[in-house]
Amino acid sequence: MTIHTGRHFLQIPGPTNVPDRVLRAMDRPVIDHRGPEFARLGAEVLEGLRPVFQTKGPVVIYPASGSGAWEASIVNTFSPGDCVLMFETGHFSNLWRDVAERMGLRVDYVPGNWRRGVAPAEVEARLSADKNHVIQAVMVVHNETSTGVRSRIAEIRQAIDRAKHPALFMVDTISSLASMDYRHDEWGVDVTVAGSQKGLMLPPGLSFNAISEKALAANKTAELPRYYWDWQEMLKPNRQGFFPYTPATNLLWGLREALLMLQEEGLTNVFRRHDRHAEATRTAVRAWGLEVLCEEPKEYSSSLTAVLMPEGHSADRLREVILENFEMSLGTGLAKLAGKVFRIGHLGHFNDLMLAGTLGGVEMGLRLAGVPHKAGGAAAALASLVESHQQAGTKKPVPESVLS
Ligand SMILES: Cc1ncc(COP(=O)(O)O)c(C=O)c1O
Repeated sequence: MTIHTGRHFLQIPGPTNVPDRVLRAMDRPVIDHRGPEFARLGAEVLEGLRPVFQTKGPVVIYPASGSGAWEASIVNTFSPGDCVLMFETGHFSNLWRDVAERMGLRVDYVPGNWRRGVAPAEVEARLSADKNHVIQAVMVVHNETSTGVRSRIAEIRQAIDRAKHPALFMVDTISSLASMDYRHDEWGVDVTVAGSQKGLMLPPGLSFNAISEKALAANKTAELPRYYWDWQEMLKPNRQGFFPYTPATNLLWGLREALLMLQEEGLTNVFRRHDRHAEATRTAVRAWGLEVLCEEPKEYSSSLTAVLMPEGHSADRLREVILENFEMSLGTGLAKLAGKVFRIGHLGHFNDLMLAGTLGGVEMGLRLAGVPHKAGGAAAALASLVESHQQAGTKKPVPESVLS
């Protein structure tokens, strides 16, 4: 048995490393979820979440993984047989499509090659052709975690507007919220789906729906059966900071601390940090002579990078070697990408030296596993990090309030 020392490097694209501050905030006795202390906690986190989604509207919190928030987005807004437009960006768009179909929706699913995001022109064309407004919603995964490809949400909104189509717009931000720029109100999103275990730096177990007024109106006539996920049942007690059922109390203490950390850093700085780490990671990949899966630079993810293996070499063997020797977990290739790609998570509670360790581990792993590559990727990433510091000057980023 190998004895490991030091910290484990959890560099999968979520769940991510949980900051000690958040762990300590959760390490406390469970309190009465019908009492006054809980009401204060509930009110604080429900309010504090809004700026993270960049919305003035309500955000509901489910004691559930992200899949629960997917189901909630659907059962709250549709009736059986409704038609929705979805796009194949990868494994997670496939799964969200499956949820919609199981709930009895008809899905118009636009095929994709898993290396590109949703094409805004395609959205416009499909909606323009839908003269009778049969399509009830456009549903897009913002950051496809299986591929490291980002879809351009603002441009998709413009495409919907150009088609003058009344469809709802729903976006999965499970691996982009609090890592990549995202604006629920400004981009006219009706339901945003999110989870706790990635940019929010929490353990798995909470998920979210941010809800527009248009989605609330659709909710009034939506006939799909719902109980646990029902927005109305949730929103009523939420007004006093309470939940309709037992909430995940200690995760909410963690959420409160994570929101404070995001507030202290400032969302703009959080996004900039993720952009820098993603850029440095791609620099390393190119220097190794390997290929980033995402084909379009405008669609690079800032929270993870999926790397294609050279022909004949298994990504899972490489991941195994890295885990055994360097105590680092990297993301596996999912579904049709199994064995073909590995994914480097660089999101959440993360900094330059953690990235240096991560890329150092990948480079040593490539060598140990006998994967053909050029040496020097990690060093190239360090140079990229230094250069971005030089460009920013010696000024420290100015924190801005995200909670006020
Ligand atoms: C983009 C995306 N959507 C949905 C999910 C499903 O969330 P969960 O596994 O928390 O149910 C994930 C999980 O990684 C994801 O990355």
